[in-house]
Amino acid sequence: MLTMDMPLSANTLGFISLIAYVITLIPTSIKIVFPHTKETGIPQFLLKYRRFIGIIAFFFAFGHTFLLVRKRNLDFLDLKTFWIYIQGITTLTIFTILALTSNNWSIKKLKKNWKKLHQLTYFAMFLLTWHIWDKMLGHWTYLTPIGISIITGTAVLSFIRIWIQFQDGITKNKRKVRKLNN
Ligand code: HEM
Repeated sequence: MLTMDMPLSANTLGFISLIAYVITLIPTSIKIVFPHTKETGIPQFLLKYRRFIGIIAFFFAFGHTFLLVRKRNLDFLDLKTFWIYIQGITTLTIFTILALTSNNWSIKKLKKNWKKLHQLTYFAMFLLTWHIWDKMLGHWTYLTPIGISIITGTAVLSFIRIWIQFQDGITKNKRKVRKLNN
């Protein structure tokens, strides 16, 4: 049921974190799915500040968690509680790893592994969708349908992008094989 109360501040922080996180995901996708958007300069602008926006997402997620842990007196050392909040905890862990490695030093040190590590962001997308559904079931705020629509839309856009890149890869490979055969 959609409640008429104003969203709690912890929920608002979670929602802002979600928006910031989504902003880090969309530039690559819109560049590939809607190539003409490159002319607007928007994907390039978002890509330039992506690491910084990711760090903002982490801080808001941390604030969201902090307020909820305090309000509900949660003890993550209790396995039952830990399990109930597993999606949120795993997402926050991923956000922490990504925030800590969002700097030039880490890119240099981790080399190829940096890209692999940052692909965890796609796992977080799935976990976050599950987190919102699970935790808000039966008591949606005004933010819930917006949050769910945004994260689902972003997931769909990412899947289309991955599909396009996969198809491009096949075409490129076919061309290579043809060249080798000629
Ligand atoms: C990256 C980390 C996280 C993000 C981005 C995030 C985001 C969100 C969002 C967007 C909502 C729905 C707000 C609404 O529709 O009003 C929510 C709800 C909730 N989150 Fe998180 N969350 C994260 C981690 C956590 C963690 C670690 C916990 C553990 C305490 C947690 C506990 C909750 C709870 C209990 C709710 C439901 C609140 C209610 O009943 O009103 N979240 N979260």
